[in-house]
Amino acid sequence: MIGDEVVERVREAADIVQVIGEFVKLKRVGTDFRGPCPFHQGKNPNFSVSPKRGQYHCFVCNESGDVITFLRKRLGLDFTAAVKLLGEKVGIEVIDAPTRAHAPDPNEPNWSALASAADYFTAQLRDEQIGREAREYLAGRGLDEQAIEAFGIGFAPRDGQLLVKHLFALGFDHDRLREAGLLVVREDDTSIRPRFRGRLMFPILDEHGHHVAFGGRAMGDEQPKYLNSAESGVFQKRRVLYGMQRARTAARRAKRLLVVEGYLDVIRVSLGGIEEVVAPLGTALTEEQAALIVRYAPEVFLLYDSDEAGLKATFRSGLELLRHGASVRVVSLPSGEDPDTFVRAKGAAALESALHNAMDFFDVQVELLSRKGWFADLHHRRRAVDKLLPTIRATKDTITRDLYIARLAEASSLDKSLVQREADEPSPPPTRIGTSVVRASGEPTPPPPGDGPPPDDAPSMPQQRSWVPKGQWKGRGRSAGPEWLATASLPRVSSDDPIERELVRVMLRERAWTERIAERFGPDGFTDERFAALFRALLAHGAETELDQVLAGMSPDLLQLAEALLVQVDAPTDVDFVLRKLEVRELSRAISALGEQIKMASPDEKPALMEKQLRLAREKQSLLHQGGQGRNPK
Ligand code: GTP
Ligand code: MN
Repeated sequence: MIGDEVVERVREAADIVQVIGEFVKLKRVGTDFRGPCPFHQGKNPNFSVSPKRGQYHCFVCNESGDVITFLRKRLGLDFTAAVKLLGEKVGIEVIDAPTRAHAPDPNEPNWSALASAADYFTAQLRDEQIGREAREYLAGRGLDEQAIEAFGIGFAPRDGQLLVKHLFALGFDHDRLREAGLLVVREDDTSIRPRFRGRLMFPILDEHGHHVAFGGRAMGDEQPKYLNSAESGVFQKRRVLYGMQRARTAARRAKRLLVVEGYLDVIRVSLGGIEEVVAPLGTALTEEQAALIVRYAPEVFLLYDSDEAGLKATFRSGLELLRHGASVRVVSLPSGEDPDTFVRAKGAAALESALHNAMDFFDVQVELLSRKGWFADLHHRRRAVDKLLPTIRATKDTITRDLYIARLAEASSLDKSLVQREADEPSPPPTRIGTSVVRASGEPTPPPPGDGPPPDDAPSMPQQRSWVPKGQWKGRGRSAGPEWLATASLPRVSSDDPIERELVRVMLRERAWTERIAERFGPDGFTDERFAALFRALLAHGAETELDQVLAGMSPDLLQLAEALLVQVDAPTDVDFVLRKLEVRELSRAISALGEQIKMASPDEKPALMEKQLRLAREKQSLLHQGGQGRNPK
């Protein structure tokens, strides 16, 4: 059983248009979205999704329900599984009651002691006498009741014995409080005392919402300004990001996360309505924090101070994030401002526009060196390249990496291939699809590159069906000979494309998929004409027609290919995954085409083109970050 409240939270957090949009190609119509119905395999846009009501409805087959119903019916899941799947998408942990009862977490006693302490601190802040100074301090910083409530801010009284008494009364003993980091044993003598006294208390929760530590801020000039809990069984500073529990749902939705420096920055920005914001508990992001961040959002904005320490933290954090495949942008606020003061003075909309103008991480690095004249003369240029190569090497996302290589080549006036070579590590492992496709024996060997496709009247393509557009081969056929050899090295002329091959295989096996695939990607987008021809044939006949009939009259070549695909025994592929690959490929092409354009463009055209290229790269990256979900329709 999953608690009603959890189900409700998951349902609310989910974006029904986005979820259904993974299965159905939706177009906006007014405030609703329309597309072909996936339940009766309709072709016309009779299927409506209302984000406002959180419901879908098909006017033809009358299927209707909410986002959970949709997943249940579409994927054949039971209620629990559908909620869990959705929970994963939106970043809410869904726990079945029995599992929880089974295995009490060994950290539970510490979480519980810390949560009780947090309760105590908030009560103290509300106390007429004890909390007055702290309340005044908070008011002076523009933090009202709502902020205090939302972030559980509290106050630790100077008289520390009050806390101890309170927690003892609740049944926590000395050892427990010491383990949870609430009591410390002084080094000079052996007396035990509370760690936090006379401080404003910010509870630190892990991403699941467990209390793991506190940050205690001095209200005057005492040092240190912030005193954090010591490391403990439940608290490792390097693994925790302040605000993560609140931020993660918003981050999943917005597909971005802001990283700021301080507790108060998180609070201010979040209350301003940009909830996808976190802070590390020191300066730069650790490896663990970067890994945590990319689990929730592919795009990260760094908002550190623009002083030297802030810049250093920016660079260290950015590199760590790039290593984890994130795309990273740097937001620069007017000097002397931090996100807290900035939003307080100018509002969240101003921050939003600063985000909009944020520069890509690598651009910032290039720009900084360039401004200091590092690209002005040969001697410096060599060293500038050496300075920038580590960023490229750290960049895990291949497209971003390629863009960075192009950018560096441009900035340094070096040949791109040279930069590429310098940057290259061992090439990344082959894709899942490429390796999972095992050649079945008896399958026709694709023509060796350079042979070129046959001309119009070639014997291997004698009876083109009507659905193969006339003249598809013409251009290439005419250019047989040396010209054709030249184009043969371009990727477009792949002789056996694993992605297209896999899609056609799926369509032959599961006929109902043809239409669904066509919704996202038509045969015209295929580069391999043989696969396109099979696709068109399947599409022309619909799912009910016997396969024999579909294949009847095909060229022997195509027949043989279809048979080879049918006997191939590998496990069915996750179709959404394959489709996404195809979309990614299209984007990659558009990106490199833009790259060519950029080379030719005049200096004032360049920024717009580069911006566009970056946007496509981001789109591609976000595609790459979506996990495979869809399975066969049934
Ligand atoms: P205000 O100064 O009150 O605006 O708080 P802030 O959260 O903006 O802090 P600041 O920008 O000065 O520092 C950023 C973060 O660094 C803080 O949120 C803390 O996590 C950490 N930090 C700052 N000072 C100290 C310190 O003295 N000790 C420790 N351990 N951490 C600190
Ligand atoms: Mn601050």
